[in-house]
Amino acid sequence: MLTVGIIGCGYWGPNLIRNFFNLDEARVKTCSDLLDERLNHMKQIYPSIEITKDYNDIINDSEIDAVVVATPVSTHFKLAGEALNAGKHVFCEKPLTNKVEDGTRLVKLAEEKELILLVGHTFVYTAAVNKIKEVVDSGELGEIYYISSMRLNLGLFQKDINVVWDLAPHDISIMNYVLGSAPISVSSSGFSYIRSGIEDIAFLTLRYPDSIVANLHVSWLNPNKIRTTTVVGSKKMLVYDDISSLEKIRIYNKGVDVIPHYDTFGEFHLSYRYGDIDIPKLVETEPLKVECQHFIDCINNKTVPRSSGRDGLEVMLALDSAGKSMKQDNKEIKIDYPDLFNNRA
Ligand SMILES: NC(=O)c1ccc[n+]([C@@H]2O[C@H](COP(=O)([O-])OP(=O)(O)OC[C@H]3O[C@@H](n4cnc5c(N)ncnc54)[C@H](O)[C@@H]3O)[C@@H](O)[C@H]2O)c1
Repeated sequence: MLTVGIIGCGYWGPNLIRNFFNLDEARVKTCSDLLDERLNHMKQIYPSIEITKDYNDIINDSEIDAVVVATPVSTHFKLAGEALNAGKHVFCEKPLTNKVEDGTRLVKLAEEKELILLVGHTFVYTAAVNKIKEVVDSGELGEIYYISSMRLNLGLFQKDINVVWDLAPHDISIMNYVLGSAPISVSSSGFSYIRSGIEDIAFLTLRYPDSIVANLHVSWLNPNKIRTTTVVGSKKMLVYDDISSLEKIRIYNKGVDVIPHYDTFGEFHLSYRYGDIDIPKLVETEPLKVECQHFIDCINNKTVPRSSGRDGLEVMLALDSAGKSMKQDNKEIKIDYPDLFNNRA
């Protein structure tokens, strides 16, 4: 039984409290927030959980093995860093931090202290994303050409970050996980319509190894909620619609083949394939439950999380480069991976 403390009981924190509370192998001892109202609400739902306005009561509690950080991103480095320094395993919500140097320091700190650092990239724990990875890894789609993703809605506007830092971590974590690699370069343009200087819509192009390109549109300024990812391969094409309740993934046996033509030089023929559409059955479990259980398993078995600190840092590096590109008129920015990634091909 691992004892857990949770910092941040705002919009997302209560989902983490509920999931850890319901796990057999975890006990939520304490939760912390700056607001009495949030703490009192938690106490009403979970009378057995201690509440505190001072997160140090969690960090300094020798009974607590693991700390969950569900506060705004600007506080992640301080809270996660102090928890790691106190010898606690950390589950830090996404994005890991808001500065690459700070994210790098957290990853190094966790590795030096041999503590688990998991970053809350929830989508890599969904049945749908794991099915996509399985399909891509099996070669069913053929050679992957490109990925196109959209994550659009009206709001929720964030106070301390732009739309790229808020929404793109989901898509980039999905793409990195599915492709098993990280982008080489990013170009991006972003626009602020509602609040000056905080981009509310953005377009990103990420270049991955093997000539794979990914395009991403994120927005807080769209009339309806859209969350789709299209993966186009040489054999088949896959569409993931996260909003659909029954048919989240469709695999289209569609494609274009170039027919070799030997008669006239320069002439070419294309053959279009229109085949069946497969809709794989997905066994859904709440992704956050899977993620919380995975965190506990990683601590108990000393294994690397599916969304490790390094994975979180890779996502941040892409976000950071997207920000640089936005300031330079959509210039393609090569991502500068810190030394700790030297073992990456
Ligand atoms: N994985 C996901 O799908 C997902 C979804 C939503 C939010 N998030 C992430 O969760 C984190 C929190 O987002 P949110 O929307 O819940 O924000 P929020 O503003 O609703 O809640 C944050 C809470 O943290 C509290 N807080 C701030 N500093 C604190 C401190 N020093 N000690 C104790 N409490 C403190 C605030 O009082 C607030 O109640 C962010 O990193 C966000 O990106 C992840």
